[in-house]
Amino acid sequence: MASVDRDVVALMDDVLHTKLLGYLQARGWKLHRAANADDLAALVEQQDFHAGLLQLQRVGNYKLFDLVGRQQSLQWIALMDHPFWNPTSQHRNFLAGVYDFHTLPVDQERLAISLGHAWGKGQLLKHPPARTDSLEHHGIVGNSPAMQTFSQALRKASKVDAPVLIGGESGTGKELAAHAIHNMSARSRNAFVAVNCGALPTHLIQSELFGHEKGAFTGAYQRKIGRMEAAQGGTLFLDEIADLPLDLQANLLRVLQDKVIERLGSSQPIQLDIRVIAATHIKLQEAVAKGHFREDLYYRLNVINLQIPPLRDRQGDVELLAQALLGQLSGDNGGKVKGFSRQALRAMNQYAWPGNVRELMNRIRQGVIMAEHPYLTPEDLGMERRASDAGRPTLDDARAKAEIDAIRAALRRCQHNVSEAARELGVSRATLYRLLERYALSGPYKGKTTPERLSSPATPAAKAAVDKQTQLTQPSHPDAH
Ligand SMILES: Nc1ncnc2c1ncn2[C@@H]1O[C@H](COP(=O)(O)OP(=O)(O)OP(=O)(O)O)[C@@H](O)[C@H]1O
Ligand SMILES: [Mg+2]
Repeated sequence: MASVDRDVVALMDDVLHTKLLGYLQARGWKLHRAANADDLAALVEQQDFHAGLLQLQRVGNYKLFDLVGRQQSLQWIALMDHPFWNPTSQHRNFLAGVYDFHTLPVDQERLAISLGHAWGKGQLLKHPPARTDSLEHHGIVGNSPAMQTFSQALRKASKVDAPVLIGGESGTGKELAAHAIHNMSARSRNAFVAVNCGALPTHLIQSELFGHEKGAFTGAYQRKIGRMEAAQGGTLFLDEIADLPLDLQANLLRVLQDKVIERLGSSQPIQLDIRVIAATHIKLQEAVAKGHFREDLYYRLNVINLQIPPLRDRQGDVELLAQALLGQLSGDNGGKVKGFSRQALRAMNQYAWPGNVRELMNRIRQGVIMAEHPYLTPEDLGMERRASDAGRPTLDDARAKAEIDAIRAALRRCQHNVSEAARELGVSRATLYRLLERYALSGPYKGKTTPERLSSPATPAAKAAVDKQTQLTQPSHPDAH
C-alpha cells in the first residue's frame, strides 16, 4: 500500500467526505478538507497542493474563477450532481479550466485515476523536467525531439565563426534562431544587425549595405555607415537572402571573400570583421537550379546549414508554446485570460499550423483581446472550423493564399506603389485596395492591438502571409525581431 504522502485539498459535504476518505487514504492520498470556500482559499494559500477536489454545489459562483486561476500547478477536479446540474456561464468557464469533472454518485476507482493524473500534471507544472538543451533563456520555447536536435545544432553553430544558412518555413523562428546563435557566440557583446533583403528599396540597397560618403550621389547630404559596417565585430543577419537581386549577390560574394568594403563615393577600403548568418523560407538550392541565385554565393553562405522544423513536426510543443506566448500576451487584456479551454488545446494540437509559431502567436494575441472568458475557446482563436478538419486547407484557403502571394510579390517588385502593383496585376486600384483590406495587408502597423491585426485574415494561410507582409513593410518594428 502506498504511504500517505500526496496531499489533496478538498471541499465537499460530510456524506461525500465519508464515502471517499477511506478509499482515497488507502491509495496514498491525504485529504485536507476545508469547511467552506474561504477556508479552502486560505488552505491553498498556505500549502503547495498539486490536486484539489471541489464539490461544486459547495462553492458560491463568485469564488470559482479565483480558485481555478490561482495556481497553474494546482489542478482541480470538480464533483457535481448531474441530474440537478444547471450550469451558469460562470460555472461553464470554471469547468473549462478544471483538469476533470465527475458526476455524483462518484465512481471511486475512476476518481482515483483522474486524481493521480491531475496531481502528476500539477507536479510537472511546478517542477518542469530539466531541459538540458533548452534555449528558453534565448526566447526559444520547445522541448520536442525535433527542437532538441535543432537546439543542439544551434549551440554548435554558436561555437564557431563560419557562415550559417538557416532554412525553414515562414514563421518557424529563423530570426529568433539567428539571434540565439549571436547571443551564444563570442561576438555577443557586439552588434547583431538584421537586413531584410526583400524589403530594401533597390535604388538604396547599395548604400544601405555599404554606406556612402557625403556627396556620393544626389541626396547624400552626409556620410552614412552601411549595415555591414554597423555589424563590425558582431553578426550580420541577411534575412530572406533569396530576394537579393543578382547584381548584389555578386557584390556580397566579393565582400564575403575579401572581407573588405568601400562606402559609395569612397575608395578607402574598410576591413570587415563580421559573421554572416543568412535565412530563407524558400529552398535556395532550387533557386540556384533556376538561375535565380548564384551557386558560388550559395556555397559561401551554406557552410553550416540549419533547418528549423515546422511547428506541426514538433511533438508536444504547441501547448508549451501556447502557454508561454499566453504568458507574454495576457497583459493585453489586463491579465483576465488565464489559460486555454480543453477544446482549444485539442483544436491547437490537431491543427497543421501552416503559419507556424507566428500564426500561433497571432491567434493567441487575437484571442486574448477578444476573449470574454478566462479560458480561451477555439472560437476565440478563430479555430472553430479547424478543430474538425485538422487544418487541411480548403479551396478557399488555397485561393486566398495564391492571391496574397501574388499581391505581395507585385507590391515588392513595385516597391509598395499600389498603382503600379495594380497595373502589374491587371486589376484596378480600387480592386487592389479591396483585396489589401480583405487580407488585412494594408494600413500602418502601429502596434499589437491595432484593428488591422484584429481584423484577422480569412485563412491561416492568409494570416501567415499577412504577417510576412507586415514584416516586410515594417522591418524595424520590435515584433519583427
Ligand atoms: N520556438 C519559439 N519559441 C518562442 N517564440 C518563438 C519561437 N519561434 C518563433 N517564435 C516567435 O514567433 C515569431 C516569428 O519568429 P521569427 O520572426 O523568428 O520567424 P521567421 O522564421 O523569421 O519568420 P518569417 O519567415 O516570417 O520571417 C516571433 O515573434 C518569434 O519570437
Ligand atoms: Mg524572418
